[in-house]
Amino acid sequence: MKKLIGQKKINTAVFISGTGSNLKSLIRFSIKKKSPIKVVFVISSNLDAKGLLLAKKHKIKNKVYNFNKRNTEKKIIIELKKREVKFICLAGFMKILSKYFIENFKGKILNIHPSLLPKYKGLNTHWRVIKNKEKISGCTVHFVNAKLDSGKIILQKKVKILKKDTPQTLSKRILKKEHDLYPKAIEKIFS
Ligand code: GRF
Repeated sequence: MKKLIGQKKINTAVFISGTGSNLKSLIRFSIKKKSPIKVVFVISSNLDAKGLLLAKKHKIKNKVYNFNKRNTEKKIIIELKKREVKFICLAGFMKILSKYFIENFKGKILNIHPSLLPKYKGLNTHWRVIKNKEKISGCTVHFVNAKLDSGKIILQKKVKILKKDTPQTLSKRILKKEHDLYPKAIEKIFS
């Protein structure tokens, strides 16, 4: 995916469900001159997501959707097209998008996952990693395809697991790395 010099930043939507610390790092990045993206829309699957406050603080359009309802994805696609959104970052988004939705934004959706994919797809990664006595974990930014956490890998960062680690302490250390990795992965695909 190339961004021509002098071209406008690419309108980007970020999908969240919770705290939104990755959203924060994406907003920070998108404000920089060198960033190829501009966060213009935040979509949340959860009314109480803290990340929504962040969107409001930065005066970024934001909307909560009930992803359990039929037609929600269709409505979102219309909204995204209206806002000329050409790129989507899933950031702590806890819902699974349909094949139909993904096809509509083929090759334009990224996700961040807190493990070294293809290992530990899905939920409770840190808990499973520790239970299996792994020595190293990390995080991955990848393209989204129809199979969960299985799209082409863009970048990964390794994190050492300490003997005393709990899922909470490990998650905290990995999350910090996620905040660097997501912008780097975006830079990489647009360079
Ligand atoms: C991150 O670890 C992300 O990789 C995972 O959920 C967490 C969300 O964190 N999918 P935040 O909402 O971005 O703070």
